[in-house]
This record gives sequence, C-alpha cells and structure tokens, in this order.
Amino acid sequence: MRYPDAAGERFTTVTVVVGAQFGDEGKGKITDYLAAHARFVVRTGGGPNAGHTIHLPQGKVVLHQLACGVLRAGVTGISGPGMVVDPAALETEILDLQQRDLLKGEVVVSERAHVLLPIHQLEDAWEEDLRNSKNPAESVGTTRRGIGPAYEDRYGRWGIRMVDLVHPADLGQRLDLLYATKSFLTNPPPRDELEAALRDVGSRLAMYVRPTEPMLWNAISEGSSIILEGAQSALLDVDFGTYPFVTSSHPTAAGALVGSGIPPSELDEVVGVAKAYATRVGAGPFPTEVGGEMGEFLLREGNERGATTGRPRRCGWLDLVLLRYVARLNGFTSLAITKADVLGGLDEIPICVGYRMESGETTTDYPPIQASEYAKVTPIYEKFPGWPPFTQRLREKIRREGTQAVPGALKRFLRYVAQETRVPVEYLSYGAERDDTLWLGRGAPTHPVTITPWTT
Ligand code: GDP
Ligand code: IMO
Ligand code: MG
Repeated sequence: MRYPDAAGERFTTVTVVVGAQFGDEGKGKITDYLAAHARFVVRTGGGPNAGHTIHLPQGKVVLHQLACGVLRAGVTGISGPGMVVDPAALETEILDLQQRDLLKGEVVVSERAHVLLPIHQLEDAWEEDLRNSKNPAESVGTTRRGIGPAYEDRYGRWGIRMVDLVHPADLGQRLDLLYATKSFLTNPPPRDELEAALRDVGSRLAMYVRPTEPMLWNAISEGSSIILEGAQSALLDVDFGTYPFVTSSHPTAAGALVGSGIPPSELDEVVGVAKAYATRVGAGPFPTEVGGEMGEFLLREGNERGATTGRPRRCGWLDLVLLRYVARLNGFTSLAITKADVLGGLDEIPICVGYRMESGETTTDYPPIQASEYAKVTPIYEKFPGWPPFTQRLREKIRREGTQAVPGALKRFLRYVAQETRVPVEYLSYGAERDDTLWLGRGAPTHPVTITPWTT
C-alpha cells in the first residue's frame, strides 16, 4: 500500500519481482538493480534450485538461497518463510561470499522456512527415475536438489523447519516420524548421523535464524522499501504453469506474498522480468523453441547454461501468448526486458503473437492447460526489424545518454511488447554487468483486455 508521508508524498514500499517465462530471465540482476533503493530483499519460495547471477565490479556471483540484497551494504537479505532451505549449502554460500568479501548486507533466515534434507535429494532422484522408467516423456528434468519432496513433506505436515534446528528439543521426534514415511528409500542416510549433522549446522546458523514477518511489517510501518525476489517463474508455478512440468512452489506475485507473510493490500508494484527471447531448462512445453543454427546462436550469444546445474538451456523466441497470460495472472505493473543485446545484429526478430490450433482457430492470450495440447499448436510469428550489435561503444552511449541512445528498432520492439501485453516496459537490460540496466520511465498499465479461455 502507498501510505502518504508527512509531506503528503506517496512512496513505494513493496515491490515483487516475478519471472515471466520459464526461469533465468535475469531476476537476480533486476532485483539487484532495484535493491540499490531498498531496505529488505526477500526470497519467498524455492530453494537451491534457483541460480541468480549478478555481475559485480569484483566478479560474478551466483546466489542460490540467499536474497541478492546481501550484496549491498545497508540491505537485509531474507531467505523467507516460503523457502525450502538446504542448511549445509546455505552455510557454504555465506562462507563463500565472506571469503570473497562480498557479503555487504545482513543475512536473515526465516524460522518458518522448511529444511531440505539429503533424504529429499535421494527422493527427487527416485521420483525422476520412476517417471523415466514408466514413461520417459513424464520426466520433469528437475534440478535434483530435492525441491519437490521437500514441499511434499511441508504440505504433508511431516516437515522440519529451520526453527527446529535452532531449538532442537523436538528434532529427534520429528525425524523419527519423517523417517517412518521413507521406507521406500533403499539407502537413506543413517538417522542418527543426520540428526547430529542438523544440530551442528543449526548451531552454526542460529545467528541468522529469526522470525521475519515482524521485521517486514515494521519496515512497512516505517516506510522502508521491500523487494520480494521471485525465484523460478510463473510458468513453472505448480498450479498455473505447464503442469506437470513445473516446480513445486508458487513463483507468482500471489505466491510471493504467501511466502513472505506480507498482506496483499501492502503490495505496490509487480515487475515481470522477461528476456527479449525465451529459454527453458528441463522438460516441458516450449512452443517457440528453435533448434538448428538459430538455437545455437541464442545459446552461444546468450551464454545460456543453467546457473545451478550447468545444463544447456533450450532457446526460442518471445511468446506473447504466454506473456499476456502471465501478465494477467500476476497483475504486472511493469515489465523488465532483459538480454536485448543478445539479439543485436540479427536482421529480423520473430515474436510469437498467437497459436493456431488444430481446428484452425487461433488463441492469443490463454495457453492450453494440458501439456500434451501444446504439441497441437502452431505458433504464429510476426517479424520485427533487428537492431545493431551491442558494441561496447553503444553500451557506453546508453549509459551516458539514456533512452535516446537506444536503437530505434529496439524501441519499436519494446513499444510493441508493451502495447500487446498492456504493461509498460519500465526497465531495459542490455548486458550482464550491473551498469547495463536502463530505467525507461514509468508508464501506467493499460486496462487489461478480456481473456479468451482455451478450448479443445
Ligand atoms: P535468474 O535466475 O532469473 O536470476 O537468471 P540467471 O542468473 O539464472 O540467468 C540470467 C543470465 O543472463 C545470467 O548469466 C546473467 O548474468 C545474464 N544476464 C542478465 N541480464 C542480461 C542482459 O541484459 N544481457 C546479457 N547479455 N546477459 C544478461
Ligand atoms: P531461477 O530462480 C530455471 C526447473 C527445472 C525443472 C523444473 C522442476 O534460477 O529462475 P525442480 O528442481 O524445481 O523440482 O525442477 O523447474 N527450474 C528452473 N529452471 N530456473 C530456475 O530457477 C529453476 N528452478 C527450477 O529445470 O524443469
Ligand atoms: Mg537462474
């Protein structure tokens, strides 16, 4: 909510950054940019499946479980209640940053975050192997970090939370119960060893583990800015994504509120982050995927390798059917378009503006609900004139002169995306470095159009 301050000015307090495609859009980079003016940055869901890359003057950082606010002095980075945290990996991440002298902000971990255990990783592999053996087409291609099983235990009420590591009075009892549900695993880690390891890591992480909702509520009362750093992306949402090829959390704006404990009425801005093209890691529908030389080009120029697993990302064109849907689902108030530089030098740039269905009808704003239905759609493309390569000179010119130095063809591309999604493009990212982000100015979202449901 925007509360007027003493001078009657209104100021933003809560912004959520949402991935608008299949992950890896550059959420870390955009969150880091916005964090320059924030007091808190909160990771609201997922766990070590995320990989958020930030290029600092001192070098590249990939954050998995820490919110990227920890890289800025005066900012608190919260690993929030909605997360499933691998405590050993979190400790390594903190130590790594400390060793590189990059931990400038404060680290806080929610007591309510669930603990992702080695058992969950075994279970993730077991589940994937099972799907694969029954029908390889059912494999999700998870990161094998244990995310699905950790959320299964969370919602099954078998879970162990960070608070249980710090105050371990009930830990043994909770573990007994949890182990009783895992009889199908042939080689789980010995229970007692696991308990000892958890107590150990819990005692070392205790200094970071706190109740986090009051910190955020008080920040709102005081008029401090909060950024909710989405991990994964709306199309990987367990309910609204390309089920079953999704993750096990809610990487939407609504999910970010549940995952932080911030009331919906406090939310001001929803920034959707999308590449000027598209990528996906793992299995699942991807109508605009391109192979061949063009696929290779995007992979190479975009340096499209998973920040967590190192897998090559599947590459394709910007898909406005999915973007319109995701914009509506999340109520984007603005868009950040990233990696525009990667397309520099291409003669023309395709954008998918609709899907043609088998019946011959077209849909423009609401994708199929069943993954198998995607195989029946043919993307309809419009081609846009390309823009020049992003040389160092062009980058410097944009840094110096701002919007007027952005190539005309790229401006037209951005205007088209804004017009078609009804969401203003407020941020342009044209390089991996921290400085390569341009604020294009605020625009008001246009009244959304009526969405036409998918029918088979
Ligand atoms: P996230 O998971 O959404 O935070 O994104 P990732 O960090 O997994 O992947 C985005 C990749 O693109 C990283 O390697 C970033 O350094 C890089 N990146 C982000 N924005 C830009 C951009 O505008 N141009 C280029 N060339 N690279 C970018
Ligand atoms: P960030 O935050 C890209 C994908 C996996 C797999 C599916 C389920 O960096 O954008 P999971 O391990 O979550 O059960 O895997 O989701 N996936 C991601 N893809 N970026 C991510 O995070 C992802 N997190 C999960 O590849 O297809
Ligand atoms: Mg990533």
